[in-house]
Amino acid sequence: MDLIQPALEAAVRAPSPHNTQPWRFEVTSDRIDVLLDRERVLPVADPEGREARLSCGAAILNLQLALRAAGRASAVHLLPDRRRPAHLAIVWLQGPCEVTPEDQAFARAIRFRRSNRRPFTDRPVPAWIRQTLVRAASLEGATLTLLEHPAVLDGLANLLRHAEHLQHEDPAFQAELRRWTTDGGRRDGVPMSAGGPRPAPGNLLALRAYPGSSGRPQREFEREPLVTVLSSFTDTPLAQLRTGQALQRVLLTGTTAGVSASFLSQPVEIPSTRDTLRELLGGQAYPQAVLRFGYGFAAAATPRRKPAVVAR
Ligand SMILES: Cc1cc2nc3c(=O)[nH]c(=O)nc-3n(C[C@H](O)[C@H](O)[C@H](O)COP(=O)(O)O)c2cc1C
Repeated sequence: MDLIQPALEAAVRAPSPHNTQPWRFEVTSDRIDVLLDRERVLPVADPEGREARLSCGAAILNLQLALRAAGRASAVHLLPDRRRPAHLAIVWLQGPCEVTPEDQAFARAIRFRRSNRRPFTDRPVPAWIRQTLVRAASLEGATLTLLEHPAVLDGLANLLRHAEHLQHEDPAFQAELRRWTTDGGRRDGVPMSAGGPRPAPGNLLALRAYPGSSGRPQREFEREPLVTVLSSFTDTPLAQLRTGQALQRVLLTGTTAGVSASFLSQPVEIPSTRDTLRELLGGQAYPQAVLRFGYGFAAAATPRRKPAVVAR
């Protein structure tokens, strides 16, 4: 059976900011090379390409998981050539491996994971699932901090509101967001149908306001949201790729447990609010992604460019 096609289909299901899909793949007989597509790095929201590398890290984990579920081990060499920083990884195909039911569940979850921007129910995420999310991050060398203390959650909510306001008032950010918000007729970008309702006044969390959302009804969101921050110990390109792998393992762990997630990236996209968030969390690690988890109603899948378009 062809291993490569399903592995590439899994890779492109990774999340990416504004669904930019900033990846390319080169396939040869015994390896898949993963490259950063610089033309798809967001110049305003992500000028350093940090979020693009997180996304490619997520795509790399999907490749590994899909190969493993097909009974093939792989070995990943991140940033193999320091003179070519856009050459993000070589995924070497290795010998056969045993496939556990957990491997199969993870690979299946790749297709069902999606960002869910709708309100979650008030049912709390149980402690054992919270712990499996934390463990998933640490398996890939990252730290997932659960903002369970009300003062810390309030601190994050204030930063989120401030960052959302700054991005809302930034014409360059808004122009970029409009370019990547679609009516669903493209294979990239965020379809308007993937947006949620507007949070009612007084809601704790400011979700990103996508163009066209101002006419939407307002809704109450969950009263006690589970908000988490995924961090790394350094902020190098290598750490960002590793944290992307952790991000995807955390999201898929949530998916297999029936828990939905959405991103609240505004505070990590602005250097000053990112610094403040870092201080809020103790000043040691570098916050890379802010995620909200909960029980939600199914969200629709967003489109992707096909493997034939992104791989050669
Ligand atoms: C690093 C990163 C940051 C993101 N930030 C946000 C965000 O702030 N708000 C949001 O609604 N979605 C955010 N997303 C989600 C993307 O918009 C989403 O992954 C993309 O549209 C594809 O949809 P899917 O996740 O449902 O497959 C982010 C995704 C990544 C990987």
